[in-house]
Amino acid sequence: MARSVVMRRYDLELVVKPESAVRRWLSMHVLRLYYPKSMVSRQSATARLAQRFRGDKPTLFHFEIHITDHCNLNCRGCGHFSNLCAPTYLDLDSFRFDMAALSAKVNVEQLFLLGGEPLLHPQVNDFIRVARERFPKARISLLTNGSLVMRQEPMFWHTLAETRTILLCDAYPIGLPVDEINARGAKHDVVVEWTEKRDLFFKIPLDETGSQDASASYRRCSGINNCPMYKDGRLYPCAFTAYVDIFRERFGVDGLRVAESDSISVRDSDGEAIMRFLGKPVSFCRHCDYDHFEMYEWGKTECSIDEWTRTPQTTVPL
Ligand SMILES: C[S@@+](CC[C@H](N)C(=O)[O-])C[C@H]1O[C@@H](n2cnc3c(N)ncnc32)[C@H](O)[C@@H]1O
Ligand code: SF4
Ligand code: SF4
Repeated sequence: MARSVVMRRYDLELVVKPESAVRRWLSMHVLRLYYPKSMVSRQSATARLAQRFRGDKPTLFHFEIHITDHCNLNCRGCGHFSNLCAPTYLDLDSFRFDMAALSAKVNVEQLFLLGGEPLLHPQVNDFIRVARERFPKARISLLTNGSLVMRQEPMFWHTLAETRTILLCDAYPIGLPVDEINARGAKHDVVVEWTEKRDLFFKIPLDETGSQDASASYRRCSGINNCPMYKDGRLYPCAFTAYVDIFRERFGVDGLRVAESDSISVRDSDGEAIMRFLGKPVSFCRHCDYDHFEMYEWGKTECSIDEWTRTPQTTVPL
């Protein structure tokens, strides 16, 4: 298989298309044409076995954590509901405590400090330092919408450089000063990375009735919205399960309740149990309507419920 084919850019609409089990298996494990890689584990079965044999902790590929829940950009259909959220700042001491608990259970390949918009947190530098202390070998990125980067003090840049933290900027179509940001990074020896052009967002409509097939939704979600999220001592499979309460409260939706079994307590579980939990659908997956997945042009929010729910059909099927 030519590398260019294997490495082809993911087309999310193709990724989420329903297809036969055989084709899906082939595509995920052999051809790897469409599938974004899992954010839970990227180890081979042999590597996992060897790790267990050595008595080592299992390796979680990725997790992310909000240091603020709110945002200053407020994109339409934000998958973390940050455009609906009142200012909320993570407490540094709880972060320190939580990161110690997590690092005792699993190795971590990469972690994202994000939000909301993480640069709204006045203690962002301290969070970066604590993350590096607890995960000395992980690839750590601060994921930002970029709008506040040029306002950061020299200490921010020193912290990123000293802790080998990547500044990962989302390439929104908002006229970001890309060259200046790159130059500021280079001046301070900071690695600055950019996402692909973020001119399209996706909508996985939330189905209040919960009548979707949870396993199928979870399978189609791998590497898309299925990104382990740490919140208040627990790991969630995604931002939906961790933050959907913001949506429920804002729109007075009665369904979409998140159960305790939709997340796992880090302190009360061992590493293997955490990995098993993250590798399986949760009950809340029955609310994710992948059959009506949509891509749409990025824009600012109007805080309207249909940014997260199924778009009504405008034409009558023949
Ligand atoms: C919630 S943001 C937090 C960090 C920062 N505010 C930012 O936008 O980069 C984390 C990531 O989720 C992505 N995201 C959020 N909602 C999305 C959506 N509906 N479709 C596609 N990506 C989305 C953002 O583009 C960003 O890469
Ligand atoms: S910039 Fe957009 S995607 Fe990122 S948290 Fe803010 S509203 Fe959400
Ligand atoms: S609830 Fe399940 S299907 Fe829905 S976004 Fe989270 S992991 Fe994906």
